[in-house]
Amino acid sequence: MIAEARKRVEKLRKEIQYHRSNYHINDKSTISGGVLDSLMHELSKLETEYPELITPDSPTQRVGGEVLSQFEKITHQVPMISLNDVFDEEELYQWEHRNKGIISHNDNWQYFVELKLDGLAVSLTYKNLEFVQGLTRGNGREGENISHNIRTIQDIPLDLSITEDNIQQLKSHNADLAERFQSKWQGSCEVRGEVYMRDSQLQKLNRELKTNGQSEYANTRNLAAGSIRQLDSSIAASRGLSFFAWGLITDLGQQTQQEEYWILKTLGFPVVKENILVSNIQEVQAYYKQVYSLREGIDFAYDGMVVKVNDKNIQDQLGFTGKGPRFMIAYKFPAEEVTTQVVDIISQVGRSGKVTPVAIMKPVNVYGVIVTRATLHNQDEIARLDLKIGDTVIIRRAGDVIPEIVKVLPELRIGVETEYQYPENCPECDTPLMQQENQVNRYCPNTKCPARNIGYLSYAVSAEGFHIVGLSEKLLIRLQEAGLLQHINDIFTLTLDDIRITAGFGEKSAHNLFTSIQNAKHISFRRFIQALGIPMVGSQTALQLSRTFKSLDDLLITTIEELQNIPDIGDKVSQSIIEFFHNTHNIDIISRLIESGIHIEYETVKQGKWNNKIICITGTFTSISRKELQAIIEEQGGIVGSQISSKTDILIVGLDAGSKLAKAKKLGIAIITEKELQDNDII
Ligand code: IVH
Repeated sequence: MIAEARKRVEKLRKEIQYHRSNYHINDKSTISGGVLDSLMHELSKLETEYPELITPDSPTQRVGGEVLSQFEKITHQVPMISLNDVFDEEELYQWEHRNKGIISHNDNWQYFVELKLDGLAVSLTYKNLEFVQGLTRGNGREGENISHNIRTIQDIPLDLSITEDNIQQLKSHNADLAERFQSKWQGSCEVRGEVYMRDSQLQKLNRELKTNGQSEYANTRNLAAGSIRQLDSSIAASRGLSFFAWGLITDLGQQTQQEEYWILKTLGFPVVKENILVSNIQEVQAYYKQVYSLREGIDFAYDGMVVKVNDKNIQDQLGFTGKGPRFMIAYKFPAEEVTTQVVDIISQVGRSGKVTPVAIMKPVNVYGVIVTRATLHNQDEIARLDLKIGDTVIIRRAGDVIPEIVKVLPELRIGVETEYQYPENCPECDTPLMQQENQVNRYCPNTKCPARNIGYLSYAVSAEGFHIVGLSEKLLIRLQEAGLLQHINDIFTLTLDDIRITAGFGEKSAHNLFTSIQNAKHISFRRFIQALGIPMVGSQTALQLSRTFKSLDDLLITTIEELQNIPDIGDKVSQSIIEFFHNTHNIDIISRLIESGIHIEYETVKQGKWNNKIICITGTFTSISRKELQAIIEEQGGIVGSQISSKTDILIVGLDAGSKLAKAKKLGIAIITEKELQDNDII
């Protein structure tokens, strides 16, 4: 095991160092921040498990970055170290728990929480009220002298003059602090902070570049870093950089982190106005959620929060670990992209008989959700990714999006990875699989294949179909193996004893399930259509059909022309519906369902303000869930579409809207915001 861990550790270090040096030295990102973080996370986990593998040059032990040769190198008075990261609530609480273990006598765990700016750390030195030197972080011990470029940044004061007004303001925060400050202040100090570029500034520069037909800059962080590392200061001056202070190295009487913030402000440095003091770790968590959702409205990039123990005395007692201080932590926002390892690729038989390869992965948190599986769609996709079992992969998930493998990191292979074999026979019933010409997918042709059937039955009894509470997949399998269940209609003829004996349920549980089966016999037309499992018919198409046809009988005799006339139902879907109702086996099942006492409740045609309007939803909503919003739209007679097309009438946008918004704008589709919905009392 250790031999394998050793190989893995070496590979991880090489990969991390490669991307880090690109980031810190060449100012270019060859990998996203989230992916780099998760590689680092895995490395530090392995090093905790096998401490004998730690070496002084491991990226976990070093601050990223090197000193560039063309600049004068200067040793930092106090090293510029880095921060340890946490990624979720649990890790945040563990951090406090560890600190409480070190300082048990303290009951003041207030925190000063700051935005974690995504720029470039610099140290600024002032002597006799004048700016004298600006350094980059460099390798943490030595920085590069970039004073000439610092002087071009408008936000950075070149002279410090403390006015009476400033002192009054400091007094208004804390009279004692003002006194301490005045007794210590002699006109010299070292301030640290972040050089960054405002988003609006990047847009402005890009507009100019575009007009001149030049290629545009990709992101503010790289551009800020690139500008500050120029020998010619006119370049930095032309880029319009900004600055925020986040640290004061000199003792000017500050006893808390919040006091440090006030002093920095008093000295004339810009500070982030969203930084606040909170009373406990739960409030840190609450504020984290708040600042996460604020991102869209703020004109500069931040990729998380820095949580700082407020009391400087406690900070001193907590001290440092190898990488960074114990008293501060970077609490990163959930990454849309992370890495994990594929431990297996299984072949899953779906309800249509399609055999799909599915990657089984080491559990990983992507954008706030633990992910263990990702569909690989088909063999072509595996070939495109060049994926092998055992590979390290980048997986991505944003918002409501299903996780997907976007890339394999082949440099991390250690030689034990194996190829996936697409099965010749069905993994469930051993029937030889079929593959149609020019099709990449293979199918199990056996309509009685237990996997096909169970897949379909689980879907038919789910909340989208008959909604039978308590009928799990496991139970469906047992009923099937006991020969009690083959088709969906069989569920409705099960007796109480069938359930009790087969499920091994007690009297009460069996009774509950039996009752929920009886209750499920009353079903809306929409859910009945969904429960039939017609290929390509999802919830929205079922809604359309249920609104268009007065009864099941009408639907059964529909024609392709009639279907094609329904808004948002395309040719392929129409074809699939017709084929389904022309299959005598399906008609037989439908008749048996009706015979077993199913009662379909038909919709009364809704006449709302969005009658027959096709409405798409995008982004995140603060006052309502997507499901609730969808229900309101349908209540008003609207249809919720999944993709923007020329048929879309309205796009409702929440926060973080992306490509859909851009597409809707292009197509000139009406756009409504969450606020407008609220203002018009729709939600
Ligand atoms: S305090 C021991 N506060 O994050 C280092 N850093 O990962 C003390 N950063 O090098 C850093 N915003 O470039 C601190 N409000 C903030 C910050 C911040 C951004 C950067 C900084 C630092 C890196 C550490």
